[in-house]
Amino acid sequence: MTEIRFAGVGHSFGDRTVLEDIDLTLTERRVGIVGVNGGGKSTLARMINGLVVPETGTVTVDGLDTRRKGAAIRKSVGFCFTDPDTQIVMPTVAEDVDFSLRRTGLSREERRRRVEQVLDRYGLADHADHPCHLLSGGQKQLLALAAVLVTEPSVIVADEPTTLLDLRNRALVAETFAGLPQQLVVVTHDLDLVADFDRVLVVDSGRVVADDAPAPALAAYRRLALDTDPGR
Ligand SMILES: Nc1ncnc2c1ncn2[C@@H]1O[C@H](COP(=O)(O)OP(=O)(O)OP(=O)(O)O)[C@@H](O)[C@H]1O
Ligand SMILES: [Mg+2]
Repeated sequence: MTEIRFAGVGHSFGDRTVLEDIDLTLTERRVGIVGVNGGGKSTLARMINGLVVPETGTVTVDGLDTRRKGAAIRKSVGFCFTDPDTQIVMPTVAEDVDFSLRRTGLSREERRRRVEQVLDRYGLADHADHPCHLLSGGQKQLLALAAVLVTEPSVIVADEPTTLLDLRNRALVAETFAGLPQQLVVVTHDLDLVADFDRVLVVDSGRVVADDAPAPALAAYRRLALDTDPGR
């Protein structure tokens, strides 16, 4: 697995401190990040591929510093945004997935084959030539994920990848994640999605307040968010 390392990371936007004292080494295959709204999860996730560079401290991916090697890191770390519209860049579905493959040096034929395969996998084959903006919210979310997965990055960071999905497509994404050989970092409010992950972090007020196996980490999150500590 890739080693994702946060060392003494802190960050603020204006005078608002968003992350502080983050020291983490992530080498597990599947890492979940949960926590209450505004806690800093997306900011932390975006730091993994240099979309946000920390104000203090460093983030490295296999020893490459995101501050200096962002472009190189983004070739091996794929990022899937919460809002698929942020990510969809081409007019039609097939063109959008193909766009991800443009810089890979694959032949046109091989690219076409991969695009077909991934659209089929995500139930979008019938929409290949449709304008992206006419897709439903959930279809857009699947398209955004497909466009990242088609490039086979060695790490996939996904920020709330199931938020817009129906039960069936959520299961499809969960099953896809379970079968991926790559390293996966998933930010989510869908706690079941990370229940079988290798490690779960709970982020609150800019800090990692629990870092454990899923069951104890999710229990800690529930106590924190719902204030239902039976011991009190
Ligand atoms: N680009 C930005 N400029 C200013 N403030 C920002 C920016 N991005 C995030 N913030 C602030 O940083 C804090 C943490 O935001 P972040 O998006 O990381 O939280 P989150 O844990 O992902 O929340 P949610 O569960 O709602 O997605 C929030 O208070 C937010 O308003
Ligand atoms: Mg977020």
